[in-house]
Amino acid sequence: MDYRIEVRTDLAACDAAVQLQRETWGDAVTVPSNMLFATVHVGAFLALGLVADDAVGFVYSFYGVKGWRFVHHSHMLAVLPPFRATSLARDLKSVQRDYCLERGLEVVTWTMDPLQSRNARFNLAKLGAYAAEYHEDFYGEMPDKLNAGMPSDRFVMEWPIATDRVDRRLRGEDPIATLADAEREIPFLLKAEGERPGAEGKLDGSHLLVATPWDIDAIKTKDLALARSWREAHRRTLGAALHAGYGAVEYLIDEGRGAYLLVKRPPLVEARPRVEESSR
Ligand SMILES: CC(C)(COP(=O)(O)OP(=O)(O)OC[C@H]1O[C@@H](n2cnc3c(N)ncnc32)[C@H](O)[C@@H]1OP(=O)(O)O)[C@@H](O)C(=O)NCCC(=O)NCCS
Repeated sequence: MDYRIEVRTDLAACDAAVQLQRETWGDAVTVPSNMLFATVHVGAFLALGLVADDAVGFVYSFYGVKGWRFVHHSHMLAVLPPFRATSLARDLKSVQRDYCLERGLEVVTWTMDPLQSRNARFNLAKLGAYAAEYHEDFYGEMPDKLNAGMPSDRFVMEWPIATDRVDRRLRGEDPIATLADAEREIPFLLKAEGERPGAEGKLDGSHLLVATPWDIDAIKTKDLALARSWREAHRRTLGAALHAGYGAVEYLIDEGRGAYLLVKRPPLVEARPRVEESSR
């Protein structure tokens, strides 16, 4: 697939990013061109994937502070359907990573719907990002075509871009276990029974698996109540686990099935106390 990636700060690029948002999410919610334009002039990042003069994908992020670290927060990534399952999405993220590393940043954050298994595989397995937090109804009600009808629960993802692991993942060099291998040794906190959420286990132990549906968008179209029951099952299991200090560090697949691998995270390093507090 012949494409090129350009890091851009011009108004035409912002207009192209708005058009790509419309084609991906519909007209209901878009970040407007003037907002994109204002932020790229103060360090936000916008890259377009181009085929000839046509924009077919983009990624957009801006500076933020998360806990005690400066980060870039990646608010949007999209590739038009004919250009999915190519290396374009990965290359857009790779260029974003280089931009952030050159500016001394070591973490890129974003939010992700835990029910979107394709995104899960892309984010956790192919990029090497992990889910650090689970938020119920993060954005409130969302009217756009990918999110309408469901509470907008989100992971907060962290991408530790200055690590060898991320380097290897971007090069596709890290072998990843299959779900079939993992489930021989690791208990499920949530199983799937076909398309339905199944049995729930105990929130205990160093490693746990949490199943997702394979195609939540298809389920939403034919049975919204079933889609919402997945959300509720994830709140009871994934949500509880992330609140209890687990992180979702991998998304494992096997013949049309997928599950998050959770591990207990080491305690977070807290910010240093301010000088006036420590000298009391
Ligand atoms: C998110 C997005 C940019 C990812 O790009 P992409 O080209 O689709 O991603 P890739 O094909 O490189 O990676 C997806 C991986 O998931 C796998 N996959 C496909 N369907 C899957 C499914 N139902 N469940 C789990 N994994 C799946 C693919 O096989 C692929 O892995 P592989 O390359 O090892 O085979 C793109 O899908 C998109 O634009 N989506 C709409 C907008 C969106 O949701 N953006 C993210 C939130 S802001």
